[in-house]
Amino acid sequence: MAALDFTSPFWNWFIIACTLGGIFGMFVLNIWLAGDTGAKIDEEGNADDTGHVWDDTLKESNNPLPGWWLNMFYITLVFGLIYLTLYPGLGTFAGVLNWASACNNTVLSEDGKNVSLSCENDNSQYRTEVDAADTKYGPLFEQYQSKPIAELVNNKDAVNMGERLYLNYCTVCHGSDARGNRGYPNLRDNDWLYGGTPEKIEESILKGRKANGMMAWKDHLGGDEGVAQVANYVLSLSGREHDAAAAEAGKAKYAVCMACHGMEGKGNQMLGAPNLSDDIWLYGSDMDSIQHTIANGRAGVMPAHENFLGEAKVHLVATYIYSLSNGEKPAE
Ligand code: HEC
Ligand code: HEC
Repeated sequence: MAALDFTSPFWNWFIIACTLGGIFGMFVLNIWLAGDTGAKIDEEGNADDTGHVWDDTLKESNNPLPGWWLNMFYITLVFGLIYLTLYPGLGTFAGVLNWASACNNTVLSEDGKNVSLSCENDNSQYRTEVDAADTKYGPLFEQYQSKPIAELVNNKDAVNMGERLYLNYCTVCHGSDARGNRGYPNLRDNDWLYGGTPEKIEESILKGRKANGMMAWKDHLGGDEGVAQVANYVLSLSGREHDAAAAEAGKAKYAVCMACHGMEGKGNQMLGAPNLSDDIWLYGSDMDSIQHTIANGRAGVMPAHENFLGEAKVHLVATYIYSLSNGEKPAE
């Protein structure tokens, strides 16, 4: 079934027509209620009678709407029209003030190695407030920028600032405790895909990372059986339970893996190829997960934060990450 394209001009005009039609309809209804056809009160102050009587005594009257109430209604309708003229709300019309809460023009760019999100012509309220905050707090972050991470890691204030930045920007993927999740590396364990020196950590955050080359090997390995054999060999590298005969057959097929994962499966940080001989697994250590990885491939992406956070903040968040595994955590 074809999906409805809600960006088409038809739906835009459909929404505009419904909104304005609704407001116009309310005006007409109000005028009708207040006019000759609506309910009235006679000279003696009695309201129209609907003719409904309950328990022989209770009569239902048809009172006109109070004037103040009707006027409030008019005011809200006029308010609605003014609002829709000034602010976004009518289809894709941005409003004459051109106000936006957050970026309404997000652009995804990919240059083969890095993927990044940016916002073009951003004049949203969010941007304005962030810019104001940057002017105010920027110097606070920048005072640390010139100091090396290995030194900053002993500065409690710097590490705490880095931690707050981490909690704001990184927890969605790496978890609030930085222990990661399936597909999102643990940043505390001193086991690194791309390297754990201050420079490499900072580079990962600034430029982003894109796992390269872990393609789907199923066809190349001759289908499920070949995948199972290599998976058994991979399990043997870390001393896990495996089928020895299958692993032996898998060993020969592992030749194609060596270029990245190394002869003994120790991995290669230049390529982001994980160590397969240890106890740490990005995508799970069980037979099913490993077979799935080998058969279908994996391509984890760490987004670049250079433009989004700026170098000064990245420097602090890198200091925090470095403090988790390598650095001495400053005394509380
Ligand atoms: C959208 C999810 C996402 C966000 C947000 C994110 N990361 Fe990542 N990050 C990843 C993934 C996925 C990888 C692993 C890439 C790969 O598989 O090659 C990664 C890798 C890394 C690495 C390299 C780890 C290694 O073992 O070498 C570091 C360091 C890192 N991230 C830090 C951060 C920090 C700090 C932030 C916040 C500023 C952050 N990340 C935000 C998804 C994310
Ligand atoms: C061109 C380089 C390259 C080759 C060749 C390659 N890999 Fe990988 N492999 C990677 C990268 C990079 C990753 C990390 C993927 C990610 O971070 O999303 C990876 C991830 C893995 C993982 C997941 C590890 C974990 O911690 O969860 C396994 C298992 C694996 N590869 C096995 C193999 C096997 C078996 C072969 C040979 C059939 C192979 N790889 C060939 C680059 C390669």
